[in-house]
Amino acid sequence: MHGEMYYQQNIPLMLWFFCANPPLEDGETTVCDGRQFFNQISSSTKELFSKNKLKFTVRIFKEDWQKKYQTNNLNTLEEMCQKNNTHLTVNDDQSIILEYISSAIIPSRCGKYQVFINSLLPTKQLSPKILKFEDDSEIPEDVLCELNEIAEKITTEISWQKRDILMIDNTRILHGRRGFADDQRDIYIRLCSPAFSF
Ligand SMILES: [Fe+2]
Repeated sequence: MHGEMYYQQNIPLMLWFFCANPPLEDGETTVCDGRQFFNQISSSTKELFSKNKLKFTVRIFKEDWQKKYQTNNLNTLEEMCQKNNTHLTVNDDQSIILEYISSAIIPSRCGKYQVFINSLLPTKQLSPKILKFEDDSEIPEDVLCELNEIAEKITTEISWQKRDILMIDNTRILHGRRGFADDQRDIYIRLCSPAFSF
């Protein structure tokens, strides 16, 4: 379960899903409420995440960053990084290291609640080396277990039917997906900031 693109500063505020074709079986989209998630976390873990921010660190080779950011100018890249609150280090071989620091817990849009929403769980599952605490300490294994257990407990599954539409508030609702084996599942996703207040 994750908030979309929380590994960088400018997150899409809203996500839209459209089911062009459902899977034959499994492949549900999963959602849970980040406010409820926060409320379920133990006080020691709440304290851990309020004192320690998350740090995402990636190394990107020269050809790859030039393609990704569509520039070969390091000054332009530096400007982009500054705008995104990302720390840039350039190595001798012109590969780069990007560091982005963010909190795992954020205030809700109304400011009244705390919301646990971030990219922690999938990053730890798929690319565990790129995520640590800001001080380079590891996120403890028992904390990851606690978070995975909460996520599983409070998750709602959405079983897709053809032409279903789902709108997600990416500032509060985490999403994920169950595995599937067939090649029928065809879900379109758009990331956006709405042109209306919500
Ligand atoms: Fe996602």
